[in-house]
Amino acid sequence: MKPLLLAMPGNEHMADALEAALEMDRCPVTVRRFPDGESYIRIAGDVAGREAVLICSLDRPDEKLVPLFLLAGAARENGAHRVGLVAPYLAYMRQDRRFNAGEATSAKHVARWIGTQFDWLVTVDPHLHRIKNLVELYGIPSCVVPAAGVIAEWISRNVPKPLLVGPDEESAQWVADVAGRMGAPSVVLTKTRRGDRDVSVSVPQVERWKDYTPVLVDDIVSTARTMIETVRAVRECGLADPVCVAVHGIFATEALEELSAAGAAQVVSTDTVVHSTNLISLGRPLAAAIGGMVEAERGT
Ligand code: R5P
Repeated sequence: MKPLLLAMPGNEHMADALEAALEMDRCPVTVRRFPDGESYIRIAGDVAGREAVLICSLDRPDEKLVPLFLLAGAARENGAHRVGLVAPYLAYMRQDRRFNAGEATSAKHVARWIGTQFDWLVTVDPHLHRIKNLVELYGIPSCVVPAAGVIAEWISRNVPKPLLVGPDEESAQWVADVAGRMGAPSVVLTKTRRGDRDVSVSVPQVERWKDYTPVLVDDIVSTARTMIETVRAVRECGLADPVCVAVHGIFATEALEELSAAGAAQVVSTDTVVHSTNLISLGRPLAAAIGGMVEAERGT
């Protein structure tokens, strides 16, 4: 029997792309709130004996996790053979250690909750920094889809003479991958973060790249303070107004407006988080990863 795709509300665009690319049936779900704030979940189809593939990007995760867990529970109690999670954006990856006494290592707790509800996980470029791989954290089979390929394609088609710029050492992995695929030069800055919205960056020697177009690439844009300070820094060095590319464009509150006001020539993101800046689609590589995960679990 073909696997079933079940999209949490807000993930319909990605479900449409995946349905078009995969040999899977779509199964409607109802997710709504009772007046008291609790969640009501119903699967409007027959999941018995089938593999259920739940799609839920986990930006703004606190409001999504409980309904998602209930949907996974509904799939199991109605007889699903296996339940997989496609989370194009995986939340709670940055608090991957206790920075101050008394804090929760949120990455580990959330991973444990998700790992007990699902049989496998597919995601795009999770923020792996101090923890090096997802299996170590989640304890279930997982597949990481890199966004570098589709980002490199977009830059090649849209930006003349690009210079890839990483705002901090954590971005170096994405910047090196994108630059390598295009044969473009790259530089990585040094970032100091003193608080959620208090960030500074320092730029290495960039004079020789003055006739290039800087393309800032980071995995997550949340408050955009990292991107804003990087835009300012490269412009102060005499480089052109940069293009900003986010793998996961969270864009908290006024982040996009502030980034544009700081001098970004264009702001672009992939579609792992639905946003007006989505110009780069991960549908194709995600579909390939899901297909591979389903086949692997079938033991073929
Ligand atoms: C952190 O290391 C990440 O790679 C991003 O640089 C960071 O999450 C961006 O956050 P914000 O947009 O709030 O500066």
